[in-house]
Amino acid sequence: MTRKVRMITSIFIIASIFFFATPYHLYHYDFISTINDVPKITITISSKHIKNFAVHENISSPVSPMNSLLPDSISSVSILMPDWKVFVIVSPDYTHLISPHDPYICEFETGEVSPAIPAGELQFPVRSLFKCELPKRDRRRLPFKQPILMKSSENRNITPTPATSPEMLRWTFLVYDSLTTDDDIVLFVKGLNNRQGINRESSEFNCIFGYGGNKVIRTNVTSSIQEVFRCNRPDPSVFEGERISVSLEIILPVPVVVPSVVYYTRPRKLEGNEKLERARVCACTVVYNVGKFLKEWVLYHSKIGVEKFVLYDNASDDDLNNVVDELVRDGYDVKTYSWVWPKTQEAGFSHGAIYAKDSCSWMMYIDVDEFVYSPLWSKLSRPSKSLLPSMLPNPKNVQDSSLGKRQIGEITISCYEFGPSNKKSHPIMGVTQGYNCRRKVENRHKSIVLLDAVDHSLRNVIHHFILKQGYRMKKVNVRDMVLNHYKFQAWSEFKAKFRRRVSTYVVDWTKELNPRSNDRTPGLGFSAVEPKDWPSKFCEVYDNGLKDLTRRWFGLKSPNQIHYRMVWQK
Ligand SMILES: *[C@@H]1O[C@H](CO)[C@@H](O)[C@H](O)[C@H]1NC(C)=O
Ligand SMILES: *[C@@H]1O[C@H](CO)[C@@H](O)[C@H](O)[C@H]1NC(C)=O
Ligand SMILES: *[C@@H]1O[C@H](CO)[C@@H](O)[C@H](O)[C@H]1NC(C)=O
Repeated sequence: MTRKVRMITSIFIIASIFFFATPYHLYHYDFISTINDVPKITITISSKHIKNFAVHENISSPVSPMNSLLPDSISSVSILMPDWKVFVIVSPDYTHLISPHDPYICEFETGEVSPAIPAGELQFPVRSLFKCELPKRDRRRLPFKQPILMKSSENRNITPTPATSPEMLRWTFLVYDSLTTDDDIVLFVKGLNNRQGINRESSEFNCIFGYGGNKVIRTNVTSSIQEVFRCNRPDPSVFEGERISVSLEIILPVPVVVPSVVYYTRPRKLEGNEKLERARVCACTVVYNVGKFLKEWVLYHSKIGVEKFVLYDNASDDDLNNVVDELVRDGYDVKTYSWVWPKTQEAGFSHGAIYAKDSCSWMMYIDVDEFVYSPLWSKLSRPSKSLLPSMLPNPKNVQDSSLGKRQIGEITISCYEFGPSNKKSHPIMGVTQGYNCRRKVENRHKSIVLLDAVDHSLRNVIHHFILKQGYRMKKVNVRDMVLNHYKFQAWSEFKAKFRRRVSTYVVDWTKELNPRSNDRTPGLGFSAVEPKDWPSKFCEVYDNGLKDLTRRWFGLKSPNQIHYRMVWQK
């Protein structure tokens, strides 16, 4: 295929996804209203440009109708996710009734049920989230109706989901998260801009705030990049004390409101110690089942000066929450934020840049298997909380930048990739003790970003943020700072990652798609079968730098001075 043909094909595919695969209902406003005129606005769902489609319903607000049709059911809204997964978001008014000890189920249109697995809590306002699987029989029935969520003990006499149940929202076209700042509101939206970097103009959209069918307010969109949209806030007095849905409206050719599961809330109030002073350095990452690794990572980085940790939790089902609770009890500042959305790492980072802006100056975007380290520290007998902060540039005063000098707003650090180092299982003393053999050359970079320097668009690409005018990026020399990335761990650990990672890029991880992708592991096939020489793979140089250092800083000697254990060991 020539390039041109390919381009046209992909445009066609994108266009067809937009018109056919995504929502069956597009919301069409009958008339424009501001809060001063007619108090009642009717929103009609219309299907003007979709064939074979005849739904005309009145809804009261851009937020999707809650499904609460049966007496025993819990008011909720459901999204059809990839692989026939269904996310069920409990209404904010019902969330306090959800008991962590009760089993819940989803009941679908055919009367079939599937277990509802707790998958975290969405914020602003707090809402419980469950994951269900769409039963096979229901996959053949279009349109896909929202399931009914109920306690499994109340599942006595199943009455099939009423036909009037609303349709499920589609993950491919959805406002899925939001964050209110002092100045504006940030919306996270799937289905408008694409991953290839084609961003629509912000003038093509409005933000639309509405509640109870009475008032709808529109504000201008100030940025439209990747999945992140920013809009002006409505006048604060307008929605006093109400819960307000918010979404994006595509203005042309006919106004269409993107289905939304988010609400407009007041700017987040800083809690207790957050108010006092911004931390100089924080860390932010997306996690899944990292309970086993977290303590070592948090203890190490705290001792070199990272003050707060923000974890975007992708529905972990290990002991993550217990480990976090324990760390918090011990005085560490660790927060988790539910981030369950597929392939949204960039959006998660953008979210973190706003979420933590008032409490952190610099944000380090590194994963839980990555450790920042300076070879210059190798002689120190103990760590100090000024080690990392002292290596970051000090914000200069305004005069300097007006002279045309750009300040450093982001530093990038090279990663060394460690191999299994002949380990057959997870090293109980921790990854920094267990893995000491790596590939010779550094690969990729991670960054530490001055949050005030991040561009209004919040755009970021492979762990780097685009900076405002007046700021620049600086690469740090590997003699000054590196990142030890414990990437290829003992097979028992790596296996889980492999399966998960590949499943993000190929439907079936045994299919040979994208064989040369950077995200694949060199030398690995297409199945999660341990290669014979796995333990000795990726071992080109022994590197005991961080191992010796952490042993000196965090090792506890036994009375006989022979054995030692690490402070993070159980
Ligand atoms: C929608 O609302 C309009 C105006 O209130 C009404 O005339 C129409 O019958 C309603 N349609 C449906 C399907 O309820
Ligand atoms: C919103 O955008 C329109 C069109 O771009 C512009 O005329 C108007 O002044 C903007 N309103 C505000 C409040 O910025
Ligand atoms: C969360 O996990 C799912 C697999 O369960 C994956 O498809 C998705 O991309 C992950 N999301 C993020 C933000 O890591």
